[in-house]
Amino acid sequence: MSAKNFLQEIDGYETLQQEIAVSRKYGVDYVARKGQVAVAVNRLHPARLTLRVNEILDETPSARTLRLVAADGDLPPFQAGQYINVFVEAGGVRTSRPYSLSSSPRQRAYYDITVRRVADGFVSEVLLDGTRVGDVLTSTSPAGTFHFNPLFHSPDMVCLAGGSGITPFMSMIREIAETGLDRRLTLLYGSRSEDDIIFADELRKISAQHENIRYVPVISEPRAGCRERTGFLTAELIRDVLGSVDGRTFYLCGPAEMYAFCLPEIEKLAIPPRWVRREMFGPPKRVADDPAWPAEVAPDHVFQAAIRGKRTIPARANEPLLVALERAGIVVPSQCRSGECSLCRVKLLSGRVFQPAGVLLRKSDRQFGYIHSCMAYPLEDLEIMI
Ligand SMILES: Cc1cc2nc3c(=O)[nH]c(=O)nc-3n(C[C@H](O)[C@H](O)[C@H](O)COP(=O)(O)OP(=O)(O)OC[C@H]3O[C@@H](n4cnc5c(N)ncnc54)[C@H](O)[C@@H]3O)c2cc1C
Ligand code: FES
Repeated sequence: MSAKNFLQEIDGYETLQQEIAVSRKYGVDYVARKGQVAVAVNRLHPARLTLRVNEILDETPSARTLRLVAADGDLPPFQAGQYINVFVEAGGVRTSRPYSLSSSPRQRAYYDITVRRVADGFVSEVLLDGTRVGDVLTSTSPAGTFHFNPLFHSPDMVCLAGGSGITPFMSMIREIAETGLDRRLTLLYGSRSEDDIIFADELRKISAQHENIRYVPVISEPRAGCRERTGFLTAELIRDVLGSVDGRTFYLCGPAEMYAFCLPEIEKLAIPPRWVRREMFGPPKRVADDPAWPAEVAPDHVFQAAIRGKRTIPARANEPLLVALERAGIVVPSQCRSGECSLCRVKLLSGRVFQPAGVLLRKSDRQFGYIHSCMAYPLEDLEIMI
């Protein structure tokens, strides 16, 4: 069958042809606008952003905000709760890490990212210690689904934050406070000490001025005389603060360890899963502590990963395969680095990997043997295809 005959078989083809003829004769000639849609889409969702560090703000002894402006073009709009993936080159390795935007989405002159120091960190160290005002960074466009959606989510929001996990909520809180959105937000913010609370003064001020925003710090290692709630974000504490949990959407955000602690606590509250939204801040620090980790695999064992058609690289059991590839200078696209977006997927031809709970493998990934390399840890020698 020729291409023309084939098109004529498609339902509605003739009607469409007639409409094109009529619009060419009497209306707008869309052919003349060819390429304009792509230009508009690229302005709103550019693949890469070039950002200049305009200001560096000290938040706590371990956290700083980098205020970023567009080095060229405009900053695309975003939803409070989304992140950008920032690329860095350090020690000869090109890698990236996602950071939630902590500024309000109504503020389009700049993006804020607030970076907290982590023990044995790599990129956080570069951003905190090696970045100066005037430096230029590259990132992805804002991405991610950890944001309020009026079609599906209750305007009564309960936000559970741990450590740096405050950042997406800060953006949401700033937006609600600035624009008077009709939402109620209760923030339970777990920190190790009072000094570790990021944005403490602003949170206190906003909650004093807006009765629909409630701020409850929870300190796990309090100083003597601490007047905040103490302990961890347990089911008991959450129920005590909220009273009823009914009709509320829960948002959970923090490092993998906080996430692992809070999820069972939330389950105890019997909240329907569709009312619980989650954002895990990257892979677990000590993956072999996961109860599902196979005891026979030593976490520091170095396996070999053969990349079909290329070469074989070393891949340590307790490091995501994506990190092993980056260490070897092999660039694999990545965005969320927490197993969600599937951009980093590679095909596993042989061998086994450990994938912690929370990795969102698609049905097709399972069917065709794809793994998300940012959250896949080698348990044997592997053969992969990129
Ligand atoms: C959606 C999302 C949003 C986030 N938002 C924030 C935020 O707002 N604020 C914030 O502070 N954090 C945020 N994070 C966490 C952030 O992305 C980083 O995970 C965090 O800053 C720690 O990064 P790091 O590189 O210092 O440490 P890690 O990610 O723990 O990196 C250390 C690891 O890097 C690898 N490594 C070490 N040396 C090398 C080397 N030479 N070459 C290659 N690899 C090496 C090793 O595997 C080592 O274990 C977010 C994470 C996600 C997923
Ligand atoms: S980078 Fe998103 S799933 Fe790996």
